[in-house]
Amino acid sequence: MQAKIISNKAQTKVTPFQFTWRMLNNPLDALTYFAQTYGDMTHIQLPKRNFYFVNHPQFIEDVLVKQHANFVKGPSIQRARVILGEGLLTSEGKEHLAQRRALQPAFYRNKIEEYLPLMNENILHHTEGWENHSTIDMTEEMMRLTLNIALWSFFGNAPQDSVERVSRSMKTLIRLFPLAQLPLPDVTRMFFPKFRQAKDDLDRITQSLINNQSQVENVKRALIQILKEENNQFSESQIHAHTLTFLLAGHETTALLLTWCWDMLAHHPHVQEKLQNEVDAVLENRLPTADDIQKLTYTTSVVKETLRMRPPAWAMGRQAIENCIVGEQEIKAGDVVLMSQWVMQHDSRFYDSALQFRPERWLLNPKPSLPRYAYFPFGGGNRVCIGEHFAMIEAVTALALIARHWKVKPINSKMAIPKPSVTLRPRANVKVLIEKR
Ligand code: HEM
Repeated sequence: MQAKIISNKAQTKVTPFQFTWRMLNNPLDALTYFAQTYGDMTHIQLPKRNFYFVNHPQFIEDVLVKQHANFVKGPSIQRARVILGEGLLTSEGKEHLAQRRALQPAFYRNKIEEYLPLMNENILHHTEGWENHSTIDMTEEMMRLTLNIALWSFFGNAPQDSVERVSRSMKTLIRLFPLAQLPLPDVTRMFFPKFRQAKDDLDRITQSLINNQSQVENVKRALIQILKEENNQFSESQIHAHTLTFLLAGHETTALLLTWCWDMLAHHPHVQEKLQNEVDAVLENRLPTADDIQKLTYTTSVVKETLRMRPPAWAMGRQAIENCIVGEQEIKAGDVVLMSQWVMQHDSRFYDSALQFRPERWLLNPKPSLPRYAYFPFGGGNRVCIGEHFAMIEAVTALALIARHWKVKPINSKMAIPKPSVTLRPRANVKVLIEKR
């Protein structure tokens, strides 16, 4: 599906007041409004710099792929350095390229498939205490499940106190993240006691997980060994930054994806039934293998459709380091370009019935031609999410194993309301009623 570009160049300037007022009210509605009102290129003039919000796959591809060398990560990721240090998410240029080359092999699909038995075991263990006809807080449960899986995969074990402490610190840091967004020097932020406490605790847990010299088989295969083996390449502070990045980036996003999947399934019983039929037919009574995951095509399309409608990464930014041109718009060094998965992936120019949850759209044969960047839940270009296979395999496995034994029903008649913060979270935790199948 191709779509004509609605304005190659920003025609109207959005004022700082209009931008701030709308974004404070509801960022998802604000960005949707800008795209619908001003077309595919909105110019927002803020006191210190220009922002351009682009909403066409061609422009997004320009920024992320064709002209990526003209851009670095946007201000909000730059400020996340105060938490993450110089890891893969925050480094730039040659430094990033070298890190990415060294780490990429550990994230190839066949490598990630080796973690499958560990994922299966964690999912079964996590759900064994669930009781028939009880209410389950899926937001909490999925957060803990994915954190456990991350700890086991990255460090080879998951000491109970580390699960508690990482969850607690993460909650504080996410709550206080707007603080990290204030344009203050890093050192000032460290005077906010709660922020500093949470960050210090995360650093301490990460370091003790790194130092764990246990020789169990799991540890030998865990991601941390790959970092340590590349010892000549990675300094101690880089190992620390990478592990912290994988721990944070690697569990919260996937937990939210799963939470949104359960909300969708609870409110679309016919989709849930179809998914369960597929799981029964493919798995019978076995635990999923890598081959099974490939065969779970409907389950995979439920995950893809959820990523379209509830993208955990709902917007991303880039800052120009060189003057360049996107569409016909001149972007000056220092300007910021915003792109939103939420707005693009709800665009009816590219999706029939864009507001409807229809996993079948991913199985159509022949596939409708979707421009590459009309769908980018994992970003794109040289900074595409390194954990994409990890997240997809984990999400499909968790849905399949849980849906095989449990039917979920909604508690509220309305679906959860998305609340965008660092990631796209539900405004209130998603709770469902579970029934044994
Ligand atoms: C549903 C789950 C996930 C979503 C939606 C997601 C989304 C994203 C997006 C959109 C980016 C690009 C950000 C940008 O370019 O500004 C990204 C980068 C990244 N993600 Fe993920 N992610 C997920 C899971 C994971 C997992 C499981 C891991 C680790 C195992 C991970 C680690 C990273 C890292 C390290 C980067 C930076 C890559 C680079 O810049 O080279 N993510 N993610």
